[in-house]
Amino acid sequence: SEKVTVGLLGLGVVGSGVIKLIENHQQKLAHQLGCNVQVKRVLVRDLDKSRDVDIEEDLLTTNPDDVLNDPDIDVIVEVMGGVNEAKDYILKAFTSKKHVVSANKDLVALHGPELQDAATHNKCDFYYEASVAGGIPILRGIVDGLSSDRIQKVMGIVNGTTNYILTQMDSEGVSYENALKEAQELGFAEADPTSDVEGLDAARKMAILGRLAFSTPVDLEDVEVSGIKGIELEDLQYGDQLGYTMKLIGYANFDNHELEINVQPTLLAKSHPLAAVKNEFNAVYVYGDAVGETMFYGPGAGSLPTATAIVSDVVTVIKNMRLGVTGNQFVEPHFKKELKTSDK
Ligand code: NDP
Ligand code: HSE
Repeated sequence: SEKVTVGLLGLGVVGSGVIKLIENHQQKLAHQLGCNVQVKRVLVRDLDKSRDVDIEEDLLTTNPDDVLNDPDIDVIVEVMGGVNEAKDYILKAFTSKKHVVSANKDLVALHGPELQDAATHNKCDFYYEASVAGGIPILRGIVDGLSSDRIQKVMGIVNGTTNYILTQMDSEGVSYENALKEAQELGFAEADPTSDVEGLDAARKMAILGRLAFSTPVDLEDVEVSGIKGIELEDLQYGDQLGYTMKLIGYANFDNHELEINVQPTLLAKSHPLAAVKNEFNAVYVYGDAVGETMFYGPGAGSLPTATAIVSDVVTVIKNMRLGVTGNQFVEPHFKKELKTSDK
């Protein structure tokens, strides 16, 4: 039967999940799309590394051109991370008229609008649902589900690693170092976990969310950031005695063209809904003029949850191909912005 062919850039935690999900859900995918989805080539750094997934050896390559220049490949899935090479490969993919799905928040936060322009110019799709809050369909929620509303506020827990660390320290008494090690072993942390613990990963996600929610340009530098590095077990125990839980909270508010956007450790009363979000789970509260309060909750990191966001984007791309249209998660910025810095 007919098939759509995917090229993967990266076969780590997320890439392995993508292979497994496509294989395990092949029937469901074929049923809704009327075709098979097949991964044809996979870019890695090290051909000899042992992998967490069964894959034919000859699918693997260390030469990006084998993936990017393969005329049979329709969709590129970028799950390698990093900025410069990933950007270069995605731009090449667009030039070769290939659609792109990416999980790369570093890249989208820094160069999202430029990549979107390149995609539009080449009549290609560009989707990046997995870049924010792992398995939670939050970008779709904002861009599609709430497209008729005027969103004023987005806040929540958007980093799984730090939430895992804080939960383990708070409820299990695990040390910061050991909790971080566990988060790395479970595949939640970034290749360099500094970006998780210093709040930068959450800041990247808030920049993407702010851009899409408020239809205004948001740069990474707009986000005021402080992370959880340096937080001690005693700080959490002290908060606990007073009825509070520490969470790393991302906050973005857009009111009268004034944007306030930050990421900081915050003490929440234990009765607060975000206090109940444990381990690698994320939750994003979105307040819209008309809808009022909404809350999106689910696994914010990890192999299969993140893969669901990616493969769902691939499904959207294939549906668009069928319809002969191009699509994306972009919202044309049409509001001016002035930055409001919070009082420290
Ligand atoms: P990993 O480090 O587990 O995997 C990265 C993969 O990319 C590896 O297979 C690696 O090859 C390959 N790779 C990296 N750089 C290159 C390069 N220059 N050339 C060729 N291959 C390369 O990362 P993750 O899977 O955890 O994350 C991937 C992306 O997904 C990142 O952008 C991350 O931020 C994002 N993400 C991660 C989530 C998670 O829960 N882990 C959740 C949401 C998004 P090799 O295996 O040979 O070393
Ligand atoms: N390192 C990220 C996190 C992965 O812990 O949330 C998901 O984006």
